[in-house]
Amino acid sequence: MSTQPLKDLSTLVSLAKRRGFVFQSSEIYGGLNSCWDYGPLGAQFKLNVKMTWWKAMTRRPEIVGLDAAILMHPQVWKASGHVDGFSDPLVDCKACKNRFREDHAQKKDGKTQCPRCGSLETTEAREFNLMFKTHMGPVADEGNTVYLRPETAQGIYVNFENVASSMRKKIPFGIAQIGKSFRNEITPGNFIFRTREFEQMEMQYFVKPGTDEEWFNTWKETRWNFYKTLGFNQDKLRFHEHVGNELAHYAKAAFDVEYEFPFGWSELEGIHNRGDFDLSQHQKFSGKKLEYFDEANKEKYLPYVIETAVGCDRLALAILCDAYREEGEDKDKRVVLGLKPQLAPIKVAFLPLSKKEELQSLSQKIYADFAEDYEVDYDESGSIGKRYRRQDEIGTPLCVTIDFDSLEDQKVTVRHRDAMTQDRVSLDQLKTYVDHKLREF
Ligand code: GAP
Repeated sequence: MSTQPLKDLSTLVSLAKRRGFVFQSSEIYGGLNSCWDYGPLGAQFKLNVKMTWWKAMTRRPEIVGLDAAILMHPQVWKASGHVDGFSDPLVDCKACKNRFREDHAQKKDGKTQCPRCGSLETTEAREFNLMFKTHMGPVADEGNTVYLRPETAQGIYVNFENVASSMRKKIPFGIAQIGKSFRNEITPGNFIFRTREFEQMEMQYFVKPGTDEEWFNTWKETRWNFYKTLGFNQDKLRFHEHVGNELAHYAKAAFDVEYEFPFGWSELEGIHNRGDFDLSQHQKFSGKKLEYFDEANKEKYLPYVIETAVGCDRLALAILCDAYREEGEDKDKRVVLGLKPQLAPIKVAFLPLSKKEELQSLSQKIYADFAEDYEVDYDESGSIGKRYRRQDEIGTPLCVTIDFDSLEDQKVTVRHRDAMTQDRVSLDQLKTYVDHKLREF
């Protein structure tokens, strides 16, 4: 049977809308550029992505979680370097008025070329700060400016002392956080890849200076293995090392994990050795000592930080792109999202073969029983073939069909998404069977 991967992003955007994963924000008003809403299936899927990351991080004895506020003291962003340095070079095209990032454009004869119309007549680049500003309280003036955080990491650094002392953590230890970040991107785009409001999943690992390079390598490997266990096609993942002026102002070393999206290789996650840049800056700006005292060796030092930072929306997009496949031809064609069960928004769908009362009541009883333990769906409309296709397209690993024989023999048919094989299973064995099968994907 022929199998085709995803060829273009628009195919996925249309599936996402049709099946309730992602909608354009404020669509009935014409939409708001680069803002997206997660529909019923998308919201569950995104929650699964977050839980998978959260478990991978916090189910280790030395990593704990945090949920810091989006609004922070404005001095935080002075200390972090974002007020002065978090900007992109903005250029205007004099011919077509397109606005774009100089560092994303091609050069021709030493001049910047407009990516839209190809003109070489452009303005000089000027630095544009990416932080969104707002005001705290009823009066909007310079004195009460606050920023929507452009990264979650700073909430972790300013709580370093609180977490270490309340949780009695000894170095090395990590703090993980999931939360919204905001960047006034000049050129957002590619669906949920680059947006102005997005969620980040960041982990800061505090280590003794001198052990940082080893920990950096360990985290590179750990994160690579994370993507492996999510079932990613290994040929579509690679590392990209940041060198020279690619390095962010805080980084001693940095690698991106890149994924080959339909629009090309692009950053999925950043792994950074941030040295003691952040803690020393916050120590300087706040006047509070943030040194760590190592009881065992009677040493005091400012820890170094190894950071792993991935966008939840971007990871969700990569997972969907990677999982999408088309099988077969013409009328036998089916679209499948080959999601790992832990990521699939629905684990089991219950499909009564007919709408007859007695079949419905048995089906609803089984459905309610499973709903206590799994995300489940119930669908009784359309032909059984169409219902299977609908579940394939949203990545449901197992479908349970209840037919008239079920009323007699207390057995149901379980259909496997990938192999499309079917097993007849007794109702009293169904949970054990499903549990076992879901682990096999
Ligand atoms: N704390 C470090 C930091 O924020 P980053 O490389 O700027 O590093 C980390 O961002 C990750 O956050 C990126 O690899 C990407 O997955 C995600 N991300 C950054 N900007 C984004 C945007 N505008 N839209 C969606 N995701 C974004």
